[in-house]
Amino acid sequence: MAVKTGMRAAFERPARDVRGLAVAFFLLVSTGGHGQRVMSEQVKAGEVLFWERCAACHESGLRNAPLIGNRKMWASRIAKGEAVLLEHAIHGFNRMPPRGGHPDLGDEDLHNIVRYMIFVAEDL
Ligand code: HEC
Repeated sequence: MAVKTGMRAAFERPARDVRGLAVAFFLLVSTGGHGQRVMSEQVKAGEVLFWERCAACHESGLRNAPLIGNRKMWASRIAKGEAVLLEHAIHGFNRMPPRGGHPDLGDEDLHNIVRYMIFVAEDL
């Protein structure tokens, strides 16, 4: 079976790679390769904050904000990298206000929200 071959190949690699591949393999098996994926604690925290603080624009598309969970709208943004998206969430980007207009949100809060935005826009 292809999966078994993949596993054997994985364990022939240096230890550092194996862990990542083993985790990817675990996620693949535990989710059947699609559907529900495991949310990290950070992503979960980001989810709560997103719906409280960012949904006003990112659920409705106000100001042409990219819609939450819309893979097409997010693909090119995700391609910029998580660090750039976080930077834009902190300092603002065009019509995206700094910290989404919530100065009380810390960098780590914003990072968690960005993680959530990426998580739901990726369809693995
Ligand atoms: C007042 C409306 C508004 C709110 C509230 C808002 N956003 Fe945005 N956001 C936008 C708009 C508009 C864009 C698109 C900017 C562009 O691409 O020109 C955007 C884009 C983004 C992007 C993508 C940036 C990029 O580089 O492509 C991220 C990440 C983001 N917002 C995070 C957040 C987070 C996190 C919050 C909540 C803390 C939030 N936004 C709240 C309007 C909003």
